[in-house]
Amino acid sequence: MSTVYLNGQYMPMSEARISPMDRGFLFGDGIYEVVPSYDGRLVGFVPHMERMQDGLDAIEIKLAIDQDQWRGIGMALLERNDGDNLGLYFHVSRGADSKRHHAYPDGIEPTVYAFAFEIPPAPIADKEAVSTYRVSTTEDLRWKRCNIKSTALLGNVMHYQHGHARGNNETILYNAEHQLTEAAACNVYVIKDGSVATPPMDWQKLPGITRLMLLDILRKNGSIPVQERIVTLEELRSADEVWISSSSKEIAPVIAVDDQPVGDGQVGDVWLAAQTLYSAQKFNY
Ligand SMILES: Cc1ncc(COP(=O)(O)O)c(C=O)c1O
Repeated sequence: MSTVYLNGQYMPMSEARISPMDRGFLFGDGIYEVVPSYDGRLVGFVPHMERMQDGLDAIEIKLAIDQDQWRGIGMALLERNDGDNLGLYFHVSRGADSKRHHAYPDGIEPTVYAFAFEIPPAPIADKEAVSTYRVSTTEDLRWKRCNIKSTALLGNVMHYQHGHARGNNETILYNAEHQLTEAAACNVYVIKDGSVATPPMDWQKLPGITRLMLLDILRKNGSIPVQERIVTLEELRSADEVWISSSSKEIAPVIAVDDQPVGDGQVGDVWLAAQTLYSAQKFNY
């Protein structure tokens, strides 16, 4: 995957250069997005770009790139890079200053970077074929602005590593009150007696686009009850099914939490129904 976009130009990744004084590098002072594409079709492009604009507004980065221009950059990267299943990564940092100082500097241009990377084929609604997840749990020790999709991901990286070091492939997080927040790089859902519950959006969680789309699809379909409400760690441990969601995983079944099986340890029927609906409708967003 070799052609990237940097500050208005397309170039081989090996030729892309940014300043070591870039505030993205020094402070993690930036916003990013990841949009999946399958056979050139983007999933959730508009809500992804709206979330990126919310992030840029929250940290007061002014950028003269509108949604159509972002789409143009994304489509150009899909054309210039091989592969049917590509994720598009969009990154805006505040830019490079001449000195290292915390205050937002005046008069610097944001650094804009985008690249395409290979992602697995779209998950399909098939209990045998789907990738399953085993997760650890740990207390969420990140900051109070987790709703901002900041490039400063050390908290998420350390939480992900907690699960990885224990042989798992995600980490579900809970707050001091033992209420679930999200996972290191996913949103979380607990299913009991056929009903889906997911923690409500606030500063403790990223407003996931997959979550947004899934809730909309489930509510419009009406066959699976879904609630946004506080979900406790205890509920996680006694759930029939647990799912995590992100743009490339879509709705991913969790089969073990802290080495204990979820329900009967198999992929569940509610997951099958939800992923079937999501697969059928995801390109409508
Ligand atoms: C912390 C966190 N929560 C949730 C998500 C899921 O968001 P989305 O569905 O937009 O990919 C991500 C995705 O990167 C994430 O990093």
